[in-house]
Amino acid sequence: MLAHEELTLLIKSKYPLIFVESIDEEYVVNELRQIAGQMGLILYQWSITTGLRRGHQINPYYQTNDPEKMIRTAFSLHPDGSESGLFVLIDFDKHLENTIVLRLFKDWLNRVKNTKNTIILIGPQCNLPKDIEPEAGHIVGGYPNEKEIASILKETFNDLIRNVKGTVSLSLEEMQRMIKALKGLSGQQIRNVVNQAFIEDHRLDIRDLETIESCKRKIFDQEGLLEFSMTETRENIANFDNLKHWLNDRTDSFVSESNALPPPRGVLLMGVQGCGKSLAVKVVAKELGLPLYRLDIGRLYSQYIGQTEQNLRKALKTVDQLSPLCLWIDEIEKGFAASFGETDGGVSQRVLGTFLTWMQERKSSCFLAATANDVHRLPPEFLRKGRFDEIFFVDLPDQKTRESLFRIHLKKRGLDPQGFDLRGMAEKAVDFSGAEIEQAIISALYRTTSRKVPVTTDHILEQIRATKPLASLKDEEISNLREWARERTIPA
Ligand SMILES: Nc1ncnc2c1ncn2[C@@H]1O[C@H](COP(=O)(O)OP(=O)(O)O)[C@@H](O)[C@H]1O
Ligand SMILES: [Mg+2]
Repeated sequence: MLAHEELTLLIKSKYPLIFVESIDEEYVVNELRQIAGQMGLILYQWSITTGLRRGHQINPYYQTNDPEKMIRTAFSLHPDGSESGLFVLIDFDKHLENTIVLRLFKDWLNRVKNTKNTIILIGPQCNLPKDIEPEAGHIVGGYPNEKEIASILKETFNDLIRNVKGTVSLSLEEMQRMIKALKGLSGQQIRNVVNQAFIEDHRLDIRDLETIESCKRKIFDQEGLLEFSMTETRENIANFDNLKHWLNDRTDSFVSESNALPPPRGVLLMGVQGCGKSLAVKVVAKELGLPLYRLDIGRLYSQYIGQTEQNLRKALKTVDQLSPLCLWIDEIEKGFAASFGETDGGVSQRVLGTFLTWMQERKSSCFLAATANDVHRLPPEFLRKGRFDEIFFVDLPDQKTRESLFRIHLKKRGLDPQGFDLRGMAEKAVDFSGAEIEQAIISALYRTTSRKVPVTTDHILEQIRATKPLASLKDEEISNLREWARERTIPA
């Protein structure tokens, strides 16, 4: 449902209080202004900087910057019920921590009940006191949808052409792609991004999609927890045959909406370090045709102590808004380690709970791709049936896979694999992970480049001999891991 319809419905249902969770105040206020017009209500608007203002009037009511005075003023506005209004308060929930303001606010709420007045709070997060919360209608989102993005774009284009001069040339199909790329941003962010792309060369065409996407990435990086990530084609990963087969059957599920089957929900890749789990996630996103975003759980703890759950909720909401997408959580056991709980007052337990609930209940088409190295630190909840569609086990590469690893990584560095003894190198690289094979090639290249000679099989063999693979040090750990995986997972 559009934010507009949802809001109208809540106002008509005579909720005394509605909380709109949105970072895009401007957009929400605009919607509310239209709704007020349609319903014959007066729009009152308040923020700590502007005070309380009526309709389009510029001057606020006297001294209403002060929350307490504002409520007292609002109280006196229509004692006879001759007029009704929408009272739109921005970032007001913080002030409810003050006991006097809270008391006054409750009185105001009681008065508003059973009238046509509605109090509407807008803020990035709903933090209502417990005793008020049950009275409030609640809307999450309030970001422009595709139709609204289209109209913001048209407005912005017109403005630009009129004021800055230049051209916009986009076909209908290109326009559609641009709209998709702008999803998840606020109205103001959309205008900024488009302006930026236009100003560079006074032209806006499909080539600007790149600028737009990189701006969008920056915006998300600023917000911290979600990070846009590049994807990878399946030719660049050795083995993972079962995962590839699994994906073959599902590649169209996010593209064709007519598909009667529910889209896949997620996979967990677990196993030996350096064997391509993270890389495989990039392939998964590519194959499913989804943009890939990484959720940095580690940062969640370090950056925002005390607000961990709220920030996770916010990030997950962004995920829902950006969907369809592939959400990547790397080394999931680090973020949700089973042993954290005793030392941090239960924060990590609650974070885990929040995440599991989201996993269970999400309706958005978000594909979850998680990796894990250490099964013993992984909370068992993740392994229950239904949490992931499949758990794949990633083992050390066998002979054939090692050969492909050499082939892929030689090619990646502009070398022709035909000039090398792939089989011979692979035979000597028993117990090597993919990362170690790659490293052997890189080290050989450093050696030979500094000596100004072309790299050969022998140079690489030399590096292989000089390497003690991690797996040989962790022999027991890996056997345990295999043992564990045998009954619970399928080989990747
Ligand atoms: N199966 C593989 N195919 C191609 N490259 C691989 C493979 N496994 C590992 N690599 C190389 O090693 C690097 C590190 O692997 P990574 O995906 O980070 O491993 P993991 O997440 O399992 O620890 C990759 O970026 C890639 O260059
Ligand atoms: Mg990794």
